[in-house]
Amino acid sequence: MNNPLPPLLRALSGQALPTPPIWLMRQAGRYLPEYRATRATAGGFLDLCRSPDLATEVTLQPIRRYGFDAAILFSDILIVPDALGQKVSFTEGEGPKLTPLRDCQDFATLGIGNGFRDSVAPIYQTVRQLRQALAPEVTLIGFAGSPWTVATYMVEGGGSKEFLAVKQMAFGDPGLFQSMIDLLVEASFDYLVGQVDQGAQVLQLFDSWAGALPEGEFERWVVEPTRKLVARLKAARPDIKIIGFPRGAGVLAELYAEQTGVDGLSLDSSQRLAWAVERLSPKVTLQGNLDPVLLLTGGAAMRRAVDHILETTKGVPFIFNLGHGILQQTPPEHVGELVALVRQGRA
Ligand code: CP3
Repeated sequence: MNNPLPPLLRALSGQALPTPPIWLMRQAGRYLPEYRATRATAGGFLDLCRSPDLATEVTLQPIRRYGFDAAILFSDILIVPDALGQKVSFTEGEGPKLTPLRDCQDFATLGIGNGFRDSVAPIYQTVRQLRQALAPEVTLIGFAGSPWTVATYMVEGGGSKEFLAVKQMAFGDPGLFQSMIDLLVEASFDYLVGQVDQGAQVLQLFDSWAGALPEGEFERWVVEPTRKLVARLKAARPDIKIIGFPRGAGVLAELYAEQTGVDGLSLDSSQRLAWAVERLSPKVTLQGNLDPVLLLTGGAAMRRAVDHILETTKGVPFIFNLGHGILQQTPPEHVGELVALVRQGRA
């Protein structure tokens, strides 16, 4: 064939490539001077996400600089609660703020009827522009937060350390919490199918706070909604590849990989890669898991860690990535060095 699948899609179809494809979570962002320049013209952060030309530009910036194998749509997981009617705001240096959702009355104000589709329409436009702008060998990744992680922001009203409010709701009023999760499955399905129809070839589900739940509750609020969402997406769009990122799940990542139906499993930096290779390959394609602080530090420590990752994943379907997003303080030249190291490949 003269149109072979691009490397990321080959890896997600279960092929072990001698040189693994590479992209990085948060590859667009504040560590890049060109991002900061575009960001300064946009107004608020959500205005940037909802401005197709600017969002397209910042998505492409790291592709131009480093030639990654994939571009990830520039947007945010909190677009979904905002579009459901729970207003989200970002203040410089403080992270996201939402009016906390604490009971049925709060929940009753939300819904897909509240102009959800109009609110996400600019994101679809960005996806369409991106697919037109990208070379065929660069895969376009769309994404959403997983229902559990998005629910943590909705109930807590922002970031959290202990997750007291959301866990108390999930454990103490599971009926109400299930309605919220069901709404998020529905909304995420709608939103992700829209991305696929405009050109997203892979979807990543970010479950940043999967590690906050104990075993039984993890199955109920992380595994089960993800399984439903993946099954519905695959029934609706059979060719789509899906990567799950249950950050902090530890050994429960095995349950996640076996039961959710994802094609790829993104590992955080605390996971033992050799364990994942032994237990989970080739059932799922592994992705990960360089510590973002090793990328920030660079030098010999980074090179050793990269060698270890390449060595450990030899012969299995694998995508090189970080264990979490790029940190703002990362020197851009370290990212260039990382891409070169991975492309030099396995000795
Ligand atoms: O990876 C990418 O390059 C695509 C863009 C992307 C962003 N956020 C841009 C962003 C993606 C995939 C996300 C996902 C996201 N957003 C997650 C899941 C991944 C993770 O990091 O755990 C979460 C939890 C959020 C919610 C969110 N958005 C927080 C907590 C913050 C504030 C933290 C911070 O760095 O300020 C954001 C803001 C945000 N999202 C920024 C970017 C580039 C920084 C905002 C700015 O430029 O001012």
